[in-house]
Amino acid sequence: MKILIINGPNLNLLGKREPSIYGNSSFDDFFKDLKAEFPTVELSYFQSNVEGELINKLHEVGFNFDAIVMNAGAYTHTSIGIADAIAGIKTPVIEVHISNVYAREEYRHVSLMAKNCIGVIAGLGLNAYRLAILHFISIHPQ
Ligand code: DQA
Repeated sequence: MKILIINGPNLNLLGKREPSIYGNSSFDDFFKDLKAEFPTVELSYFQSNVEGELINKLHEVGFNFDAIVMNAGAYTHTSIGIADAIAGIKTPVIEVHISNVYAREEYRHVSLMAKNCIGVIAGLGLNAYRLAILHFISIHPQ
């Protein structure tokens, strides 16, 4: 089973960026743990701060991977292009957020991509990625 995790803008700074909101762990360290936790999953990771690169990556994997876990960061709230890309591909996407976006500024309460995703996880820290993978494993035909 092939799963890609996609992180959007500023998520390359995890561990350094606003640790009271996003925690102290870098994504690279967390990703090593995830790979060890799910040895039977072909897990890969892509991060970009550039909207078009995120869209290109969705197009590239969206017809051959089994699942995508995506934290589009701030583009969640603004990008019609990312929302349209998710609608246009075959691979199911789960939208994740580290923080509880609903407990933050009002502009974070809207997700343009959520309606094109199979589900959304927010507010559970980095566990969101783990829970999304567990969900995809549970629905994947053996
Ligand atoms: C975020 C929430 C977004 O509002 C914010 O712009 C991010 C991170 C999260 O994981 O909590 O960059 O997606």
